[in-house]
Amino acid sequence: MVAQDTAAPARPVPERAGAIARMRAEGHPLLRMMGFLWEYETAVSLTLLFLIASSLLALVTPSLIQQVIDRAAAYGSPSVLGLYAIGVVLVSVVNGACSFGQRYGVAYLVQGALFDLRNALYSHILHLPFGFHDRTRTGQLISRMTSDIDNLSGFFDFGLTGLVSMTITFFGAAFMLFRMSWQIGLLGLGIVPPLVVVAFRGSNTLGPRFFELRRQFARIMSQLQENFSGVRVVKAFAREEHEVSRFRLELDEFLRQRMGVVRAFATFMPLMDFLTNSGTLLILGYGALSVINGQLSLGQLVASQAYLMMLTGPVRMVGFMVVMGRRASAAAEHICEILDATREVVEAPDAYDLPSVKGEVTFDHVFFGYEEGSHVLRDITLHVQPGETIALLGATGSGKTSVINLIPRFYDVSTGRVLVDGHDVREVTLHSLRQQIGTIFQEAVLFTGTIADNIAFGKADATMDEIERAARMAQAHDFIIEFPDGYQTHVGERGITVSGGQRQRITIARALLLDAAILIMDDSTSSVDVETEYLIQSALNQAMQGRTAFVIAHRLSTVKNADRILVLDAGVVVQEGTHDELLAVDGPYRRIYETQFADQEEGEAV
Ligand code: GTP
Ligand code: MG
Repeated sequence: MVAQDTAAPARPVPERAGAIARMRAEGHPLLRMMGFLWEYETAVSLTLLFLIASSLLALVTPSLIQQVIDRAAAYGSPSVLGLYAIGVVLVSVVNGACSFGQRYGVAYLVQGALFDLRNALYSHILHLPFGFHDRTRTGQLISRMTSDIDNLSGFFDFGLTGLVSMTITFFGAAFMLFRMSWQIGLLGLGIVPPLVVVAFRGSNTLGPRFFELRRQFARIMSQLQENFSGVRVVKAFAREEHEVSRFRLELDEFLRQRMGVVRAFATFMPLMDFLTNSGTLLILGYGALSVINGQLSLGQLVASQAYLMMLTGPVRMVGFMVVMGRRASAAAEHICEILDATREVVEAPDAYDLPSVKGEVTFDHVFFGYEEGSHVLRDITLHVQPGETIALLGATGSGKTSVINLIPRFYDVSTGRVLVDGHDVREVTLHSLRQQIGTIFQEAVLFTGTIADNIAFGKADATMDEIERAARMAQAHDFIIEFPDGYQTHVGERGITVSGGQRQRITIARALLLDAAILIMDDSTSSVDVETEYLIQSALNQAMQGRTAFVIAHRLSTVKNADRILVLDAGVVVQEGTHDELLAVDGPYRRIYETQFADQEEGEAV
């Protein structure tokens, strides 16, 4: 149920189930992430083959050059020299081909794995329940999808191949040096320990600084994001200068940290160069003496310098590799945290599709809490007939939203049952359940796209006729056709700006298009003018016709029209009945009526 229905991939992706299984597997986070690479077994083997071949071939070249020099000194025979020269060229050509194969293979492998990982992670995040999203900041999720995956990508790209090729190069070069002369081999290895010490000290200094730098960068990014999206508030409160100076402070800090990193780099690099050069000089001196003594050929002296470079190169990279590994490991941990996020709302293994419902809803002694141990709803029992309209009333925080959240199973009850047409919502598939419930959230969210797309969000194959019918019912048709491109007008970022009331009616149309038997709406805002309010009200009345409807209403007309009113207080139903029934007794409803609705009644009378 994790990633079963991502969009059709543009490139062939191997069996997805394996990747998903590994994603959920146990083990070190980095190893789990590497599981995504093993999906491409053939590519892994081929790449490894190319990698080993090119690393080995690189080791042959100095040896060939050595032969060229020595033969030239010994015989001066051009034909033999030519043969060696051809050898050198051939080796480089083959090496080049292997190198191409290796790079291409790595890119294919890594990009493929990242493609799978991004898809799996995105799908997983979207499938995570409301509870998870309540707790998690959006910025954090974006950072998982971007910078954490980037860090992994760097490690997969250079880290893993580097590890293989550097190991081969290091041991190969050491072997070649020892084969030449054990004294030179020992001298060469002698440089390694001080280099390792410096490299590790470098990584220990640089690693945390890099982390800090990234954290600071993330802080700057989130400030940017907040201020750009909230730019109107910033301007309205004339806080531009304040925000600019806050930004400058953060940038200052970034600059300071950045220079700290540069300073550390600038200190360690020359130190490494110094060590490497001293070693080279030592070996060169010893080698020159050996040549004079006749223990070493000139060609060998030249080759030894090349091998020395091959020996020290990987060691110099050790620090860098450690930093990269740590970063990738932290990124993998973050990603695994999300992948392991507990799913409070899980489909039962034997969940079945909810058959087409009439709209009967039952709450059977329902207790519910967002956190374990504390109940937000207590002992709610309710039986709603198909077609009934239920209005929920109560002070803020009394649990109105919580009640309606349980019907589409956004959250699970602690004890008791919620039934739709007699089916426990925990026994049916989430898709089939939610498809039959039209939901209008308190916050009217539109996505970037056309108005038609937005209305058809819950039913991608809706025809234009259906879309228009829903829009008419939601009292949205008239203003939509006034827009320059009608239903094809773009909304969202850079699109046309729609007013709050228009936005709300578009989301009502979105819910109506599903033509679901059950409608729930969290209609807590009424910050619109009287005419728009009237239009929305008629839209709602239309919407509720012939459906079971749950409305959280702040409008008297909605409440009055409801078949039944539930008054909630601190998670308990304290009153239940029609408007007239409830008004007749001295209780919470009459108090709410007197404080909130009486003036609306006067307004209506005018
Ligand atoms: P208004 O929308 O303000 O009119 O309130 P409401 O009646 O819809 O209340 P709601 O059902 O949202 O909240 C009931 C109680 O649950 C309140 O005490 C909230 O603080 C609490 N609550 C709501 N959402 C969450 C949540 O995501 N996590 C936790 N821990 N508590 C929540
Ligand atoms: Mg609410």
